[in-house]
Amino acid sequence: MTSDEMLSEAKLLIDRSYSPYSHFRVAAVLEDSDGNIHGGVNVENSSYGMTMCAERSAVFAAVATGARRFKKIVIYSPDGPPVPCGACRQVLWEFCDKDFRITVASDGVPPRDFLLGELLPEAFQL
Ligand code: THU
Repeated sequence: MTSDEMLSEAKLLIDRSYSPYSHFRVAAVLEDSDGNIHGGVNVENSSYGMTMCAERSAVFAAVATGARRFKKIVIYSPDGPPVPCGACRQVLWEFCDKDFRITVASDGVPPRDFLLGELLPEAFQL
């Protein structure tokens, strides 16, 4: 699936974001090494620290289906460009190569593409 098609999927998912505290809605669409597509949204909690980002929701849902390696992710928010947090970068590193493509999209600005290796240089690995 193209990144443009994945962005369309993310826009369909955005209403599932559970973000009553920050009001920052995020959806992520992830393509695995077999070309299957997996979605996630951010899920917040009244005890703020337990909030889960859309990227990790997508990775964990995908891994639960049996997927283990990923090609690219598109992250979308209508509330501002959702550049992935440090925790999500490290979780992506577990299942992705350094040339894994990360597209960050919002409304009214052009999408930006990054490689995981540039967002997480010198990643920790056992
Ligand atoms: N969030 C994500 O889901 N992904 C990002 O890339 C940035 C932040 C969520 C976490 C929280 O629910 C809200 O956005 C504000 O931080």
